[in-house]
Amino acid sequence: MLDLGAGTGLLAGFVAQAFPAARLTLLDGAGAMLAQARERLGERPSYVVGDLADPLPEGPWDAVVSALAIHHLGDAAKRDLFVRVRAAVAPGGVFVNAEQVAGETPWLDAV
Ligand SMILES: C[S@@+](CC[C@H](N)C(=O)[O-])C[C@H]1O[C@@H](n2cnc3c(N)ncnc32)[C@H](O)[C@@H]1O
Repeated sequence: MLDLGAGTGLLAGFVAQAFPAARLTLLDGAGAMLAQARERLGERPSYVVGDLADPLPEGPWDAVVSALAIHHLGDAAKRDLFVRVRAAVAPGGVFVNAEQVAGETPWLDAV
């Protein structure tokens, strides 16, 4: 599993709990955030300091996940990233991008 913008490893930690055998790679632009992730998750995962605009670590990946990170990119960079993620996900694999978005109505916001 590849976690994009992994930060302190919160999401990767949830994935590790749900899939204890998963091999995790955490990518983030901030080495200091990954240092916190390393404290949380230990030495078993791989930690990559890199930018989301750069080529992804070589796949294929069974799962690419991201939380609250991709919104830092502009729209063109997001599109480019999504194309590269699609190419890096293994057949039958998944891409999960968890973000908060503003809904057009209070009901959509709540959803
Ligand atoms: C709000 S934190 C979310 C961290 C983690 N995914 C979580 O849910 O706890 C956003 C993370 O995205 C990273 N980030 C933002 N823009 C980035 C970029 N262009 N390349 C790599 N990482 C980036 C930041 O360094 C930060 O760690």
